[in-house]
Amino acid sequence: MVKKIVVLAGDGIGPEIMASGLAVLKKAVEHSDVQFEFDAQDFGGSGIDAKGEPLPSETLAACQSADAILLGAIGGPKWEQAEKTPEQGLLALRRELNLFANIRPISVPDALLPLSPIKENIVKGTDFIVVRELTSGIYFGEPRHLGENEAYDTNRYNVDEIKRIIRQAFEIASGRRKHVLSVDKANVLATSKLWRKVAEEVAQEFPDCTLEHQYVDSAAMRIVQNPTAFDVIVTENLFGDILSDEASVLPGTLGVLPSASHGESGVSLYEPIHGSAPDIAGKNIANPVSMILSASLMLRQSFDMHEEADRIETACFEAMEEGILTKDLGGTTTTTAFTEAILEKLA
Ligand code: NAD
Ligand code: IPM
Ligand code: MN
Repeated sequence: MVKKIVVLAGDGIGPEIMASGLAVLKKAVEHSDVQFEFDAQDFGGSGIDAKGEPLPSETLAACQSADAILLGAIGGPKWEQAEKTPEQGLLALRRELNLFANIRPISVPDALLPLSPIKENIVKGTDFIVVRELTSGIYFGEPRHLGENEAYDTNRYNVDEIKRIIRQAFEIASGRRKHVLSVDKANVLATSKLWRKVAEEVAQEFPDCTLEHQYVDSAAMRIVQNPTAFDVIVTENLFGDILSDEASVLPGTLGVLPSASHGESGVSLYEPIHGSAPDIAGKNIANPVSMILSASLMLRQSFDMHEEADRIETACFEAMEEGILTKDLGGTTTTTAFTEAILEKLA
């Protein structure tokens, strides 16, 4: 069986961590029945440089016919003033592929407990999933306008968009601790009032799960105050973006957090939650764990290859436990040396 993986390395540290992720992935699947075929495509700033577009039509076509997509990261100062930015390419890709459900698992493996800036008794056992709506809300709402004296964006959600993401959260919670926290700003925003009403309706379909609501400001506080209280958090596009970066403080770095984005059917995309980290690009110091774990999420969620995914995850956690740590976690191990250590463990 051959599976086609489109590889979008992107910009900044994207190519460095992608090289690491692919090396680990290839090693982990070398004895399995599934054969992976990799198709590298221009995307983001490198798409602009090569083809004048952050999402060139060849790239989109390749993604549409792929079995899964791996993305490193996009963006950087070089393209901030571009007519079409790398970020617009990323949003267009998510929208074109209808990747409305962005799954961001946040856990603190015991290996990282001493490295977390949060006290061990608070952070130990943290294991929750942020289910972020990814193709609507203020990121896409019209009208939008940027003028000299005034600017505005529009936050917009319809019932179907809310229903499908809330359902996704309940389905995930059903296989876990059966608790969904819906995060909104229903004391102020109309979109949040509708969100809360629809969440209540969808909850009726999942009688063995419980639904709780919390305002986003208060949820932001609780994430650092009592992170073990969460099972599945479901929220709109912008809140999910912010809360998941906040949650990266729990394991101590953005550099260990992967994500998966799914549509109703069709291809899924796997990427770290962080960006292209221009401040450390080209230095061989980026933490590749976020990318490696994104590849292992792909094995699990697109190909049901749990054994291989387990091996990858165990290798990463073991390495960190042994003190093989990149700079973001206080270590001195380079990206390539960390990768070598994982490859050795998988040999
Ligand atoms: P960022 O996530 O790139 O970096 C934030 C901080 O985390 C930086 O100090 C960076 O060095 C550090 N960091 C991130 N990933 C790391 C890793 N793997 N190892 C070690 N340290 C890591 O956010 P930013 O600086 O706000 O944004 C930089 C660019 O990335 C912008 O152009 C932004 O639009 C883009 N961006 C892209 C994505 C994506 O591709 N999905 C996500 C977020 C931001
Ligand atoms: C992310 C990023 C993107 C987002 C940007 C780069 C458009 O921050 O993937 O979390 O806001 O969704
Ligand atoms: Mn983000």
